[in-house]
Amino acid sequence: MSKKVFIKTYGCQMNVYDSKRMADVLKPHGYEQSESAEDADLVILNTCHIREKAAEKVYSEIGRLKAHKEVQAESGKNMYIAVAGCVAQAEGPEMMKRAPAIDMVLGPQTYHRLPDMLKSAEEQRTGGRRSARVLDTDFPVDTKFDHLPTDSDFDGPAAFLTIQEGCDKFCTFCVVPYTRGAEYSRPVKDIVDEAKRLVAKGVVEITLLGQNVNAFHGDDGKGGTATLGALISELDKIDGLDRIRYTTSHPRDMDDGLIFAHRDIASCMPYLHLPVQSGSDRILDAMNRKHTREEYFRVIERLREAKPDLALSSDFIVGFPGETDEDFEDTLDLVRRVKYAQAYSFKYSPRPGTPASVNEDQVPEDVKSERLARLQALLNEHQLEFNESTLGREMDVLLEREGKLEGQLLGRSPYLQSVHVDLTKHDNALDLTGDKPYSKFMGKLVRVRIVEAGPNSLKGELVRALN
Ligand code: SAH
Ligand code: SF4
Ligand code: F3S
Repeated sequence: MSKKVFIKTYGCQMNVYDSKRMADVLKPHGYEQSESAEDADLVILNTCHIREKAAEKVYSEIGRLKAHKEVQAESGKNMYIAVAGCVAQAEGPEMMKRAPAIDMVLGPQTYHRLPDMLKSAEEQRTGGRRSARVLDTDFPVDTKFDHLPTDSDFDGPAAFLTIQEGCDKFCTFCVVPYTRGAEYSRPVKDIVDEAKRLVAKGVVEITLLGQNVNAFHGDDGKGGTATLGALISELDKIDGLDRIRYTTSHPRDMDDGLIFAHRDIASCMPYLHLPVQSGSDRILDAMNRKHTREEYFRVIERLREAKPDLALSSDFIVGFPGETDEDFEDTLDLVRRVKYAQAYSFKYSPRPGTPASVNEDQVPEDVKSERLARLQALLNEHQLEFNESTLGREMDVLLEREGKLEGQLLGRSPYLQSVHVDLTKHDNALDLTGDKPYSKFMGKLVRVRIVEAGPNSLKGELVRALN
């Protein structure tokens, strides 16, 4: 009989990829994915540890799951709760103590062993135990990638593909080097094979993932290593792969090969997430980012020389320990100079075990809130300006989902903007007969004219179909 697994994902795209791969690992063992936790035999929370609230959300979710687990136990059914991801890695044993309803705790590098863990959990629970105690947060020497199934269900035309994991940079605010472990790049051949399998299923856009994706240096199969730029040109050869994106990049690793990939490779999308965190040299140094603001400007300049229409995005942390008003003004100044198309900004959150968390110069909460509001107002202004600059233009949009309105599909522009495309309005005679006339465009690239621009999305009308 088939069983049901419900996976809830928190955090970054890498966790989204991992959740999908966990489903792939479980499928041959009879687990189908479920949309809700209530009737699931196994619930996996794939957690994130990057900021405080992330872990708190997990604990309150476990509280809710415990109730389902008890209801199921009353009808003689065993439900299993597993906590995976970065909170699991960082606080595994503590979590087991704090939340006895948890059966399994596993880290980001051990989920290929899920079937074995489930087996031990089942053994432990035969005989009426309410929860098992299975913990596997190793950093195995052999990578999980060598043990993951090659088959994966298609779930849309845009897919993630992890090519690099872990981080050796140790920014003083960040937990990632502790939760994900040391930097590791997958061999080029494995990545190309995985990309081909995705494309064969109907994927047309792949986002290459890594915590330091542009530090990629995977085995090239010829006795050397390949850079990200070289990998992108290999992937560009795959017929049917129309769009390649990558995230997240570090300013220090933006080499010419990658910059020129944006200029020379049409499938390499004109969008780059290049987090700077702060515009103050003093704070950049205290964060251990190992570059100055001038060096960052220089990278942006080289990028814009090579690809003038490149849309840029960034992450910012406000209220890093010791950040003064002047440091914060430097951040606003950097934002004004770069003008991002999009950006994410956060209040500094002290993370256990990181050097900055024990700094005595912590910035008061109200100062952080005030700075965040000012920064976000400026970033939003620029985002709206960028969106408005695309008004009237024709762009290629990859339609990924149904919109709320009849005849409307949602997709992404090359610059990663969300575009609501109204298929009921179009220039040329399209065959829109049949039951679901618009569904033939789902998963397709279409040419769209932008007719409305808002702060968070665009509206467009169909010009013609492309693939
Ligand atoms: N590897 C990426 C970042 C990964 S974490 C890079 O080097 O840029 C994603 C984002 O979370 C970071 O860019 C940072 O802005 C934010 N972040 C990380 N640790 C944080 C902390 N302790 N407090 C607040 N934001 C944090
Ligand atoms: Fe964290 Fe810095 Fe590594 Fe990014 S580069 S994952 S911010 S330690
Ligand atoms: Fe969070 Fe781990 Fe990603 S801490 S941001 S899920 S790498």
